[in-house]
Amino acid sequence: MTEYIEKIKDLISKSSEIPLCYVHSFGCQQNVSDGERILGLLSSCGYGITSEPDSARLIIYNTCAVRENAENKVYGMIGELKHLKEKNPELIIGLCGCMAQEEKTVEKIRSTYKQVDLIFGTHALSELPHLLYDVLTKRKFVFDTDEHSPVPLKIQSVRQSSFKAGVPIMYGCDNFCSYCIVPYVRGREKSREPEDILAEIRELADKGYKEIMLLGQNVNSYGKGLKEPICFSELLRRINRIEGDFKIRFMSPHPKDCTHELIDTILECDKVCKHLHLPLQSGSDEILKKMNRKYTTEKYMETVEYVRSKSPDFSLTTDIIVGFPNETYEDFLKTKEIVEKVKFDNIYSFIYSKRSGTKAAEMTDNTSDEDKSRWMTELLAAQREISTEHYKRFLGRELEVLFDAESKHEGFVTGKSDEFIIVEALGDKSLIGQRKKVKITKTFNWAVCGEII
Ligand code: 5AD
Ligand code: SF4
Repeated sequence: MTEYIEKIKDLISKSSEIPLCYVHSFGCQQNVSDGERILGLLSSCGYGITSEPDSARLIIYNTCAVRENAENKVYGMIGELKHLKEKNPELIIGLCGCMAQEEKTVEKIRSTYKQVDLIFGTHALSELPHLLYDVLTKRKFVFDTDEHSPVPLKIQSVRQSSFKAGVPIMYGCDNFCSYCIVPYVRGREKSREPEDILAEIRELADKGYKEIMLLGQNVNSYGKGLKEPICFSELLRRINRIEGDFKIRFMSPHPKDCTHELIDTILECDKVCKHLHLPLQSGSDEILKKMNRKYTTEKYMETVEYVRSKSPDFSLTTDIIVGFPNETYEDFLKTKEIVEKVKFDNIYSFIYSKRSGTKAAEMTDNTSDEDKSRWMTELLAAQREISTEHYKRFLGRELEVLFDAESKHEGFVTGKSDEFIIVEALGDKSLIGQRKKVKITKTFNWAVCGEII
């Protein structure tokens, strides 16, 4: 890899100006993190970075394949690049990430989107300099979706934020939930060595990062295959001991592996946010079985009850899929019932999207799209009422908030509390990147609002 980084550097040094690259990541935090590593690789090759695709000599779309609409968005955006390529034939267009790992994408791109020069899969990040060098020198279409060794950690990510950082602790997934494409495009679970993770977090803490998000498809099965096999709870305890003024989050645990030890650990560790994103997916045991989720609603509720018995303030969020193949209204009502019973602080709900190659794609599905959309609307309405009621528990209380953006409402800044609740407060952009205590004075169904103390 280093050999090709040097070769590209050499090529670039001969051009009259520094070429710029533009990398856009779709989808989950893991993808965003990969995108930051790609930027790191490209900047070590000598590229400058731009946030304007029009001024770039290299555009890379780091794609997501989890739902069909994510894929359609990518095709739409690649389509638009055709004009840019016509104006600037020197432009190189690359596609990577989960979609790029799918055979059908490579075929479709080759036949219909000839403006694309380069496709590399999720396992080929470390090969990027080599592949890019081939495109630059041979001016031909290059693709690589084989499995390679991970990108060496010596390559520094170019991070988008100076105060929030995602740190991958594992890659891939072994769960094969029947609806999900991830195990096929990201491969088997691989944990990073704890020393590598700790070193990266120490460095981020020294640089003043305020929030570290540990990333993995199933973080609580962390540890498999390590030289020193430690579990996720132990990893959290070790990270918690790192000095610095930062908080720790993680995304996402799987309900089947969510032990009491993990919940106790979150409560014991002062730096770990008291928030659990625990994807339920469905409240019907029959559907959970067809989804291959390996837990029942009883087991899920037992975990929720344990959390609540230990700390009523602990915040819970979840993912829900509406309209799994042949889901009935009765199944859906069971989901809604659990959502109402648990009183999640927030839910992320998705209409089932058929992903070819998965087990669920082979199941017959007689549930109509109209029913699926109607149930989704019903679920969202129920959740709005729950949030409205549930957020009232914060009235008059102080929440710790890391501000991360200006609000759409003029004069306000916005951020997330440790509980992962959106908080708005009167203030300007100088507060972005700072953690402040906010006294909550108002609640809405999507956020709370208050005054900075
Ligand atoms: N259709 C709809 N939603 C899906 N998810 C994963 N695969 C699919 C699919 N085929 C959702 C799950 C998961 C979240 C990241 O995306 O709820 O937790
Ligand atoms: Fe997909 Fe299930 Fe793995 Fe999550 S745990 S990435 S939903 S297969």
